[in-house]
Amino acid sequence: MNNEADRVRRELESLRREIRRHNYLYYALDRPEISDADYDALYRELLRIESAHPELVTPDSPSQRVGFPPLESFQPFEHAVPMLSLENAMEESEVFEFDRRVKKLLGPAEDPAYVAEPKMDGLAVEIVYEGSTLVRAGTRGDGIVGEDVTLNVKTIRSIPWQLFSSPEGQPVPTLLAVRGEVYMDRKDFEALNRSREAAGEPVFANPRNAAAGSLRQLDSSVTAGRPLKAFFYGIGQWEGVDFQSQWEVLERLRQWGLPVNPRSRLCRNIQEAVDFFRILEQERERLPYETDGMVVKVDRLDLQRRLGEKSRSPRWAIAYKFSPHQAESRILDIRVQVGRTGVLTPVAVLEPVNVGGVVVQRATLHNQDEIDRKGILLHDTVRVRRAGDVIPEVFEVVRSRRTGSEQAFRMPPWCPSCGQPVVRLPDESVHRCLNRNCPAQIKGAIWHYASRDAMNIDGLGKKIVSFLVEQGVLRSVADLYRLQPRDIESFPGFGKKSASNLVEAVERSKETTLPRFLYALGIPHVGSHLAQLLAAHLPSIPSVMDAGEAQLTAIPGVGDVVAFSVRTYFANPANRELVLDLLGSGIRFRESSPPAPVLEDFWTGKTVVLSGTLEKMTRQEAIGMLTDRGARVTSSVSGATDILIIGKDPGSKLEKARTLGTQVMEEEEFLARLRGGARPDSDG
Ligand code: IVH
Repeated sequence: MNNEADRVRRELESLRREIRRHNYLYYALDRPEISDADYDALYRELLRIESAHPELVTPDSPSQRVGFPPLESFQPFEHAVPMLSLENAMEESEVFEFDRRVKKLLGPAEDPAYVAEPKMDGLAVEIVYEGSTLVRAGTRGDGIVGEDVTLNVKTIRSIPWQLFSSPEGQPVPTLLAVRGEVYMDRKDFEALNRSREAAGEPVFANPRNAAAGSLRQLDSSVTAGRPLKAFFYGIGQWEGVDFQSQWEVLERLRQWGLPVNPRSRLCRNIQEAVDFFRILEQERERLPYETDGMVVKVDRLDLQRRLGEKSRSPRWAIAYKFSPHQAESRILDIRVQVGRTGVLTPVAVLEPVNVGGVVVQRATLHNQDEIDRKGILLHDTVRVRRAGDVIPEVFEVVRSRRTGSEQAFRMPPWCPSCGQPVVRLPDESVHRCLNRNCPAQIKGAIWHYASRDAMNIDGLGKKIVSFLVEQGVLRSVADLYRLQPRDIESFPGFGKKSASNLVEAVERSKETTLPRFLYALGIPHVGSHLAQLLAAHLPSIPSVMDAGEAQLTAIPGVGDVVAFSVRTYFANPANRELVLDLLGSGIRFRESSPPAPVLEDFWTGKTVVLSGTLEKMTRQEAIGMLTDRGARVTSSVSGATDILIIGKDPGSKLEKARTLGTQVMEEEEFLARLRGGARPDSDG
């Protein structure tokens, strides 16, 4: 054999081994040893050598995950052991009932432990390894026969083509059918839909459909281009090894290089499993993938065998489903809240109801137009929805539940806080109180000033602020620095100690940073992120106060809308006086860190214009949400505009956008795009 070819072959083999090892560390153990960039470099090196020596490309090379010749149709895939489904539990009581049934069948001698695993919302597959090599893969189908998707599964990077022999010296099975779920991360799903949309292709309704549609492709090179992942949670047949428990199964699978969900937990009894469910339910929104519940499995395999199965589901497992993100409730009352900017928001007081694991008692009705559009009446039965961090909202009326005693609701003509007349400005869907001395607005401004991302004054909660404003002790944020312990001592529940603690907390807040202070002022549209941008470019208070239009818009991320708002704020003598008053009370600025990177999402770096009346939020809220995500908001459509967001009666800006070919987005889509990566909004 030619020496040179031999050397290259050895080099390729070592590269491939190296890449497989890093796949294992990354996907199965979640413990990468090298950076993504170094991994990519290894992979590119493999491709480079292979393309120079195509005769040395082996079918098991990691480079072959790009796909295989397309098929005419899928072959049937028979499961040697049927893939069962699970019985569902919607309530805690049903899970305890499951535990009672299990114990009754097993007899008093057994006190079974359980394994609790997140229930992945994807597509079930079975993969067969013979002599540790991946030979076949199939979808679940009807549980007996599915479709052969071997080539497609081989393109999924996290699924090994070879089982690793475990470092613990455990033998590798001669035959192993593993079962798991192929899924797509939410973020990957959104990116996929964006690129499909850009290419004029239909979008997928949810990550599960995207995963299923991507796996069931006759051309595996299409699958190879889709960001699929997998978690394994069980086995069909096996030979050459033995397992005692489900927990051991999960451990072995992980050691052999198969990805196993790290959020699985061994529970000594059913109560521990139920407790773990609550944790998962809270974490659910923050997980990168979608889950629809938790699977509880009897841990010991001998006990599983004794329990056996019913026609289609095992007696040893149950799926405990998360409560849906929607629920029905009744509107007990409608109250009108006045925010710190004077906007009046109607809020429904509801019969408490569990929505996706959180008890909801209040939900926003947005404004009068929204109430009219949805036909909401006081005492209606309604459906409530919660999405991510967004405040719960009433989204529809259950008309069939009307009794005839419901009553229409109208926004009050006077501010519920100060009694001054309420106005509705043209081009706005909201009612506003314009009285700058309105107690509700003063309270709102002080809460905002004291809030965590602003001056972070510990212990200055809503109740105490309300009390002090109503007592006339606080008339503006500047009064905070004149607070004396004796002003607070009379507040119910406060004593000398807590009063002096609060005064000390106020004192401590004087040591702050410029961005925090700018944000705390509550300048319309200046959220926490924008405040950091401003401070990074205009590093002192006078320079911000006197900045001109050109100076402001030269800051990346600051459009003319924000610039106008900042200038208007500081043009007002009362505001300038307030700032000087605050500085005079001893506020000092520490060096602040450079602006934190914005949550990168769809909006980051885009130039956006708003036009017409938005229905679900004020213009101010919309601008706050956009700038918080790194978008630049400007007032008129030009060649530099990426997106025009339109509400009701958008007028000439829409025509301009049409002639320029600018992307136009309606409010619905805008909201959906915001939900993607929500960050608490900065303005109210
Ligand atoms: S165990 C006999 N574990 O849920 C045991 N299933 O309704 C059957 N699923 O078809 C499955 N995550 O697609 C199990 N950790 C998990 C799961 C899980 C998701 C899916 C799977 C199955 C369906 C059963």
